Amino acid sequence: MLSTRKLSGKIKGLEGLLRKRPLGGNIGVGHCRWATHGAPNQSNAHPHLDCKAEIALVHNGIIENYAQIKSSLIKKGHKFRSQTDTEVIVHLIEEFYKNCSLEEATRKAVSKLQGSFAIGVISKREPGKLIGVRLGSPLIIGIGKCENFLASDIPAVLESTREIVFLDEKELVILTKDGFRVTNLNGIEISKKSTRIDWNISCAQKQGYKHFMLKEIYEQPKVLRRILSAYIKGNVINFNDLGISPAFLKRLNNIVIVACGTAFHAGLVGKYALEKLARITVAVDLSSEFRYRTPMIDKKTLVVAISQSGETADTLAAVAEAKRKGAKILSICNVVGSSLTRASDCVCYTLAGPEIGVASTKAYTAQLAVLYLLAMYLGRIRNRAPLELIRRLIKELKTIALKQERFLEKEKAVLKVAKSYHRMGSFLYLGRRINYPSALEGALKLKEISYIPAEGYAAGEMKHGPIALIDEYRAVVCIAVNSDIYEKMVSNIQEIRSRSGKIVAIASKGNTHIKDYVQKTIYIPKCLELFSPLLVALPLQLLAYHIAVVRGCDVDQPRNLAKSVTVE
Ligand code: AGP
Repeated sequence: MLSTRKLSGKIKGLEGLLRKRPLGGNIGVGHCRWATHGAPNQSNAHPHLDCKAEIALVHNGIIENYAQIKSSLIKKGHKFRSQTDTEVIVHLIEEFYKNCSLEEATRKAVSKLQGSFAIGVISKREPGKLIGVRLGSPLIIGIGKCENFLASDIPAVLESTREIVFLDEKELVILTKDGFRVTNLNGIEISKKSTRIDWNISCAQKQGYKHFMLKEIYEQPKVLRRILSAYIKGNVINFNDLGISPAFLKRLNNIVIVACGTAFHAGLVGKYALEKLARITVAVDLSSEFRYRTPMIDKKTLVVAISQSGETADTLAAVAEAKRKGAKILSICNVVGSSLTRASDCVCYTLAGPEIGVASTKAYTAQLAVLYLLAMYLGRIRNRAPLELIRRLIKELKTIALKQERFLEKEKAVLKVAKSYHRMGSFLYLGRRINYPSALEGALKLKEISYIPAEGYAAGEMKHGPIALIDEYRAVVCIAVNSDIYEKMVSNIQEIRSRSGKIVAIASKGNTHIKDYVQKTIYIPKCLELFSPLLVALPLQLLAYHIAVVRGCDVDQPRNLAKSVTVE
């Protein structure tokens, strides 16, 4: 007997339904849907069943050829109950599930699909058996005691087990409570090793914070210290077991950084640091663009792929394209054993621990820290940065965590600004040089959790268009930290003032005169401009967080967003 309970909306609603109408049994599939085809409503929610309600299936990803499959199945008499692409898979399995096992029927069905997916399938004809297939979307096995799990990500099973088996592309697993078998899509057995995950349960809990995002903002100093102690041994940056020879790095022609969203902004900061310290040409590309261009890369190109989850479909595809053209791949990633790490020649882990909030915070500054270290390391082995300079930079970098903590003690100042600005119709974030990416990232944080339109811009570009937007209804966040181009930002601020823009300045502590030009000032401790993105990120994260909270938004799970975008 197969029973289902489905609901649209948050998991809390489904929990309430299950309390009223509990489910029995010792095997099941559950799913939180990120809608691609069909509205997020109850009939489109997973699991989807075949015509006879004997098979139940859940699915992450997109079936690109679902329309033609659906019409041919309808011609064969199949009745569909939803507008989803997913439902074609379970009817296709039903079509093949005659005189063969569920895994065999699933293999045959999957061979007809185009697109990217991870699926979980059970059938009342073979109770106790769960079939999983991975093709373009992550899937992991959790090894428990007299129970086993299939999930799309580690935190989902962390409360029950830390023994994880990562499925690779085009692998199928037959899972029971006593064990599992993995085969390729032709049915050939594959042996798999398990990985022990050292995250503790508390990593995936709020520990007294109102939201995961706030907890993760406050974890940043600890994460930064962890990174520096992992990669700096006795004042020397230790990338020796990088897996790419120093000889290759010395002969490098260029670096191409590929990433999405926040990771892309980290890549832009990395460009400034790498070009300044390693004196090498760096291009930073959105993964979704890179994969469809004909990028200029060759055997002397190092492609640096940045991804918190290591499962972002666009970045995985960009890496595959780069490998096809012979480039070496270095990934900067936060998840051990994720697809990206297994597709790379070498990995620099960001050691940030699980980032649960959909809006990336600690993973972003962790990516920055690793990029700074990589820039200093390459500067040394390519004889572009004198030892004395690197020693001075390491010393300065080691002071940043304390400065982050000092700033976080002033959270209330940011809350005050958020309360005055949360009704503004739109925001413009402006930054220069290494803080231009900080402006992009600040705008992304605000828009993705508060839903207020916000855009980041290079401050020097304001006169080339955005200045037309300035009026008393628009908030402008100006990153005006101490630097040799600070006066240029002051000129931008004057231009905004004369058009009645509402300005929030992010300024270095001690700069009192900026208060004469702006409505609000948020001060951060002084530091080298090079490392200032590690500090500037915090007020921008907190400003977005508090504005979203005041506006009653779901900070940890913003509408329409997923933590790991495994579809293109
Ligand atoms: C950042 O706050 C967003 N959640 C999103 O832009 C994210 O950075 C992007 O999807 C890339 O994710 P990744 O780092 O896991 O590849």
